[in-house]
Amino acid sequence: MKRIVFVLLCFSCIAAAQQKSESRDERVEALLKKMSLEEKIGQMTQVDYDAIKKQTGDIATYSLGSILWGGNSEPPSMKPNAWWEISDAYQDLAQKTRLSIPLLFGIDAVHGHNNVDGTVITPHNIGLGATRNPELVELVGRMVAAEVRGTGIQWTFAPCIAVARDERWGRTYESFGEDPGLVKELGAALVKGFQSERLSNPGSVLACVKHYLADGGTTNGKDQGNSEMDEATLRRLHLPGYVEAIKAGAMSIMASFSSWNGQKMHGNKYLLTDVLKGELGFKGFVVSDWAAIDQLPGSYKEQIALSINAGLDMAMIPNAPGDKNNYLEFMQLLKELVNENRVPMSRIDDAVRRILLVKFQMNLFANPSRDNKLTAAIGSKEHREIARDAVRQSLVLLKNEKGFLPLSRNLKRIHVAGRGADSIGMQCGGWTISWQGSSTLKLDGATTILQAVQQTVSKDTKVTYSIDGTGAAGAEAAILVVGESPYAEMFGDSMDLSLSKEDQAIIETMKSSGIPFAVILLSGRPMIINQALKASNAFVAAWLPGTEGEGVTDVIFGNFKPVGKLPHSWPRTMEQIPINVGDPTYDPLFPYGYGLTYSK
Ligand code: GLC
Repeated sequence: MKRIVFVLLCFSCIAAAQQKSESRDERVEALLKKMSLEEKIGQMTQVDYDAIKKQTGDIATYSLGSILWGGNSEPPSMKPNAWWEISDAYQDLAQKTRLSIPLLFGIDAVHGHNNVDGTVITPHNIGLGATRNPELVELVGRMVAAEVRGTGIQWTFAPCIAVARDERWGRTYESFGEDPGLVKELGAALVKGFQSERLSNPGSVLACVKHYLADGGTTNGKDQGNSEMDEATLRRLHLPGYVEAIKAGAMSIMASFSSWNGQKMHGNKYLLTDVLKGELGFKGFVVSDWAAIDQLPGSYKEQIALSINAGLDMAMIPNAPGDKNNYLEFMQLLKELVNENRVPMSRIDDAVRRILLVKFQMNLFANPSRDNKLTAAIGSKEHREIARDAVRQSLVLLKNEKGFLPLSRNLKRIHVAGRGADSIGMQCGGWTISWQGSSTLKLDGATTILQAVQQTVSKDTKVTYSIDGTGAAGAEAAILVVGESPYAEMFGDSMDLSLSKEDQAIIETMKSSGIPFAVILLSGRPMIINQALKASNAFVAAWLPGTEGEGVTDVIFGNFKPVGKLPHSWPRTMEQIPINVGDPTYDPLFPYGYGLTYSK
């Protein structure tokens, strides 16, 4: 009897869900029928804040679908309030359109709500990859989503699920690692974290899985370069992340600037439509990257036709009226293409249907603006604790001679040195406040490694500091923090991953002091570290940990045993790169998955 009741219950739940989904589909169709061609094209147009801020009337005039803040788009202030004031005001403008279709606001919250000052900046994906912890990654995503929604923004251009196969790529740190299995597991976890169990929850943000396809597989790691491989390899390495992300409920995907075997992804109908929407059954919408359609062959009109017919649903357009290829031109040319039957109305309707479906799923029509409770939680202690735990679990211990670590917190004197010791900018890396980040960045509520050491050791312990490694003599131990200055995208492409001459000099200075020392490396990828490894007593890869420097000292002083495992094979020399787990000849300095812990 019980079994029958159970079966009946299941059927009624499915019917109810079907009913809800049908009513949502019906609402999409009903709205689509009312829309003019101009309104449909408006929904397919995403405009950067800097391009619209001087003519916000265009939001209503053209019934724009989305506004984004690109890496360098800046409101009058970088504090949380400035962001929600703008999003609330722009949403009000959208409500004044004939059909009151709400705006989707998008931003690159790729390691916390990182454009905003006072938010919690988490480890970049490479550090999350080192945790091997999907539950933690989901929790991080949930926290970041709450901080994003607290500013009235409902869409993040994350997670990047690149499978970074060549560490010379400037975006290696945006990837979880070199292995498709790790990437698909953590990519799906972050989608679930961002979107929670229901996209309509006030604390959920729409995830945007990127960059489709094989952005991390380009030859020599060239950003926006060419991924040269047969289809079987493409599918084996770079598609699994999208399969899992779609299963996890991802409803937006960003196309990649890169090419596959010489064809730009933004014009690849086979991969954007036949594979992604057909074979994988993706029901959400595809958004372009930043003015990426401009890189296609032909005139702007031909580029628009090529990308929209290939399966692009929304175009990200950073150019203002008066600039070349601006959003007014985009809408005018797309309208002409439809009227000339060069873009079928069925393609327009498919794109708009997908966009509207997401807006209904997010319940934006009912509650388009932000939730004040979420605003109040931005930068909260609870949020910082989540990020601090992610930092702890992301650290990879590569060397620990004679149990040098953990250090006692009761030393008489400890010396802290190096460019990264007191630099929130180096701890955070790129995509922090500005697109490229900055070594001299200051952030509300952030803790540098030096500050964390000062807060951790006993009150009788003397902490001294020098940026250049001098002054260590007389201390019982030293911590030396070196690594990469911040960069993003193509500005991080590098053919030489050696430590900088400055860092190498600091290490030599520290070595000459005769004091035992641990090196903490702040980097967006493995680097060539042979000299530093040999000279030090212990070596920790900390990646780009973000604002919670105490997560680093939790491990250094033994509050937490290191658990991190390498998400990349660590090369001995540049000549070994690319080097990936599974290569036929494989002789890294440290293998994929390597990581020590404390014996006691
Ligand atoms: C950038 C990046 C992409 C980002 C977009 C918006 O060029 O390629 O990852 O989401 O533009 O900032």
